[in-house]
Amino acid sequence: MTLLGGLAEIADVGRDAARGGYSRHLWQAADLELRAWFVERATRIGLDVETDRNGNLWAWWGTPGPDAVVTGSHLDSVPGGGAYDGPLGVVSALDAVARLQRSGFVPTRPVAILVFAEEEGSRFGVACLGSRLMTGVTSAATALALTDADGVTFAEAAASAGMDTAHFGRDAASLDRIGLFVELHVEQGRGLIDLDSPTAIASAILAHGRWRLTFTGQGNHAGATTMAERRDPMVAAAHAIVAVREAAIASPGSRATVGRLRAVPGGTNVIPSTVDVWLDARAETDAQTRALVADIESRVLEGVGECSFALVEESWSGVVDFDPTLGRHFATALGGVPVLPTGAGHDAGVLAAAVPSAMLFVRNPTGVSHSPEEFAEVEDCVAGIEALETLLRRVL
Ligand code: GLV
Ligand code: MN
Ligand code: MN
Repeated sequence: MTLLGGLAEIADVGRDAARGGYSRHLWQAADLELRAWFVERATRIGLDVETDRNGNLWAWWGTPGPDAVVTGSHLDSVPGGGAYDGPLGVVSALDAVARLQRSGFVPTRPVAILVFAEEEGSRFGVACLGSRLMTGVTSAATALALTDADGVTFAEAAASAGMDTAHFGRDAASLDRIGLFVELHVEQGRGLIDLDSPTAIASAILAHGRWRLTFTGQGNHAGATTMAERRDPMVAAAHAIVAVREAAIASPGSRATVGRLRAVPGGTNVIPSTVDVWLDARAETDAQTRALVADIESRVLEGVGECSFALVEESWSGVVDFDPTLGRHFATALGGVPVLPTGAGHDAGVLAAAVPSAMLFVRNPTGVSHSPEEFAEVEDCVAGIEALETLLRRVL
């Protein structure tokens, strides 16, 4: 098995000809193929794979047990995503464990590779669903009722993938096994380019959340309805999108994005009856993020005109401060690599509230992520695998 060979093995799975990059969504064909690939790949190096009650995959080196050192990431992607966000952490975990095995290393603690389900929330709208269910941050009832763009519920999708939906929910038994979780991940910004370092340890994750803004007007004929007669929710949505940007610019350090919009019924010659706009908002503190969303809401209200407007919070993740003592210890073990924050959400961030957790970043020379342009040089990926191996040796 060559280092990073795993990335080559899955390079054709879930390619998106229309968007470019990869579209790998939970329990759809590409995701199922990747999950089967992971089982085969982990089994090939002697690991025993099990699926937990929330659809996360665990590959154990030795007997499963408490105080385990767990590493891994996710295999799903955003629509039209890059090759590295998620899979790099899974492939690096497989390679680091294989290197430890080949060197004759005998761990003193159980070791597992963990692949989280639905990290991006691309199919059911809530990111980090596997870790949120495991920790109880999202309840089974909430998760099972989520629907995808075709109206398929999470419960239906889970059942058709062979999962027993009666067992979804907080998984104390799995959580209790984790003594330490380390997630290796491609960096999603320019931090490591600017610092001229191939790797870093994470210090914090911005507070972030997702909201749905629904504008309702009067569906009508594009030709027969005069401009004065219209109640057009697309115009209210357009005003809102500009307001989102202006509110974020007025709040230094904040980020706010509209990446998805749905017009109903969605015809070129039809004034829509409803427009849904999804907002992703992030800032350095919980309070700043809440204030940003409140500011967006009041700016949006100014532009709704004759339409009605509703705002619903679909998910919330408070700011994450990774354990600074653990972070410093890991940075020192790696020869003094930088410690830096990120604006991207991760399962390690969700787990951090429940178990000691850390993240290891690998430089992305494009600084671009959630896009086919996301990249990592082979030498930097190898540096990441070696760093992960070093950390595992340190704690095992
Ligand atoms: C996940 O990558 C996110 O930050 O949305
Ligand atoms: Mn991502
Ligand atoms: Mn990711």
